[in-house]
Amino acid sequence: MTDIQLQIQQLSNTLEQHNYQYYVLDNPSIPDAEYDRLLRQLQQLEQRYPEYASEHSPTQKVGAQALSKFSQIEHRMPMLSLDNAFDDNEFYAFVKRAETAVGQVQFCCEPKLDGLAVSLIYRNGKLESAATRGDGRVGEDITQNVRTIKNVPLSLVGDDFPAVLEVRGEVVMPTAGFEALNARAIAKNEKTFVNPRNAAAGSLRQLDSKVTASRPLAFYAYSLGVVEDQQQPLADTHYQQLQQLKAWGLPSSKETKLLTSAEAVLDYYQDIGERRSNLGYDIDGVVIKINSLAQQQTLGFVARAPRWAIAFKFPAQEEMTELLDVEFQVGRTGAITPVARLKPVFVGGVTVSNATLHNADEVERLGVKVGDTVILRRAGDVIPQIVSVVEAKREGKTLTDIVFPTECPVCGSSVDKQEGETISRCSGGLFCQAQRTQAIRHFSSRKALDIDGMGDKVVEQLVAKEMVKTPADLFELNASMVTTLERMGPKSAANLIAAISAAKTTTLAKFLYSLGIREVGEATAANLASHFKSLEAIENATVEQLLEVDDIGNVVAEHIQLFFSQAENIEVINKLIASGVNWPAIEEVAADAQPLAGQTWVLTGSLSVLNRNDAKAKLQQLGAKVAGSVSKNTDCVAAGEKAGSKLTKAAELGIKVIDEQGLISIFEQYGA
Ligand code: IVH
Repeated sequence: MTDIQLQIQQLSNTLEQHNYQYYVLDNPSIPDAEYDRLLRQLQQLEQRYPEYASEHSPTQKVGAQALSKFSQIEHRMPMLSLDNAFDDNEFYAFVKRAETAVGQVQFCCEPKLDGLAVSLIYRNGKLESAATRGDGRVGEDITQNVRTIKNVPLSLVGDDFPAVLEVRGEVVMPTAGFEALNARAIAKNEKTFVNPRNAAAGSLRQLDSKVTASRPLAFYAYSLGVVEDQQQPLADTHYQQLQQLKAWGLPSSKETKLLTSAEAVLDYYQDIGERRSNLGYDIDGVVIKINSLAQQQTLGFVARAPRWAIAFKFPAQEEMTELLDVEFQVGRTGAITPVARLKPVFVGGVTVSNATLHNADEVERLGVKVGDTVILRRAGDVIPQIVSVVEAKREGKTLTDIVFPTECPVCGSSVDKQEGETISRCSGGLFCQAQRTQAIRHFSSRKALDIDGMGDKVVEQLVAKEMVKTPADLFELNASMVTTLERMGPKSAANLIAAISAAKTTTLAKFLYSLGIREVGEATAANLASHFKSLEAIENATVEQLLEVDDIGNVVAEHIQLFFSQAENIEVINKLIASGVNWPAIEEVAADAQPLAGQTWVLTGSLSVLNRNDAKAKLQQLGAKVAGSVSKNTDCVAAGEKAGSKLTKAAELGIKVIDEQGLISIFEQYGA
């Protein structure tokens, strides 16, 4: 072996080891930049000495020449499917059947990944071929495409693998990658994918593997197929098999658990179901497998499914329904939003009869018409979305175009669409009853002045009866006026008046937020308050001064400046203050400058309101140390959406966890 060959081999081994650390153990041992440097070094060597380049080198993840069609691969062992259980009873029946046949069992529980089944064949540790499931007997040869999936090793780690090893698993598109892919498609005015599964399927079935290489795909192993010439018995249990696959560099789900009772499995099902939207990839249930391979053998198969496994499904997150009508709602800033009225349908665990269609661009992108059959998706707590039209169901139907109004459906003012904006707006401002109602609703909402008992129905009536035109009028109300509203007895009226009065004491940040200045959400309001420290300073700030505030760009600065330059807004603000609305001066609160001194905090998950770096800076400003991982020394974990292993660890260690809202409250409390 020449020096160069040796160098290439050593670099390849090092990179494979890092791939293993990164993809299988989820514990990278070097920074990404260092990995990239090693990879480039290997690429350069292979370019200079192509005679030593191998198709199994870690550099070969970029795709090859496009195919004109896929060839077929016959599975030596058929790829089967699974029987389903849709409720506890069906699951118990599965357990009972198994226990009657083989006695006591142990369960290996895994998420049921919602992607595409694939079979990988490794010969002497090198990836030889990859195939789709197809009809279970014959699939398509997608070797070139699978070779580009980052977490699929081209060479196995170690040297104790069998001569032929068939690994089966699921290829999925992780949610974050899916969202980024669709966002890029929308930006380029291209068609989006309906869901991560379709995106994964579309990406895997590309004749040009360079396209596949550009897509964020991941593979998770869930079973073995053909195994030939193994050096020692592989394992006695399914779980051990998965561990062995991991040791060879083949990732499997981190959520896999061994459990010994049916009740524990039900808890697992429940727990994974609750964390479903935070796992990072779509799942449609859990798969429960009898762990012992000997017991599996005894149980055998019926028809096309094993008797030793069952797919315990979650309620579907996508259903078909009909678009009955579209109504146009007017929001706080006059934005006209098309709202779909749907034939009620049970999806994602609730019955849905409305869904937002967002704006005209979205309606156009979907090509949806009233009368259409549509696919409705409700995942986790995300608001229901219409993801596509089922074109095949259009035949013989009367469809009507969705036409945006040119006049406000509430006040009749003209509807304008600014150049470059996607949103049409009613030009009526506070003349428009809808905008007024929304402004009062916003002012009273929990994150603003938080007026207890000021529900939507109350606000609607107050505005409709012209008892309240601006937020300042709320403080002019008295109990006898309020009792004239529907379903408002003397007791509730007195409570409401007391709540209005109690809401007078607030914080500057909440007050700013409550004004409903365009583009000023909670985080911006908090930034404005802590930067300027007084309302006068904000009222008088120039656009340049506003731009000095964290996260404020030109558009937001101009909206703020415009708001405070309008006499009617200043009038409302002055009235509010005259009615007794007040907040503590910011310096007073900041006196205890480092209330979190000596504490260690961890930030995890994605924050929707705060910017992560700012949140970190603020915690540090309050005296906390911000660490990257959770340990027994952690005092508190602030967890945003999609928090994963750190949150689990915190739960295991019994460490206090707060959500983003909690973090915001702490910043507000201490004026950070
Ligand atoms: S085991 C003998 N485990 O579900 C069948 N399948 O409905 C072996 N799937 O085609 C399948 N996650 O594509 C198994 N953890 C998991 C799975 C899983 C997803 C898919 C797989 C299969 C389908 C059956």
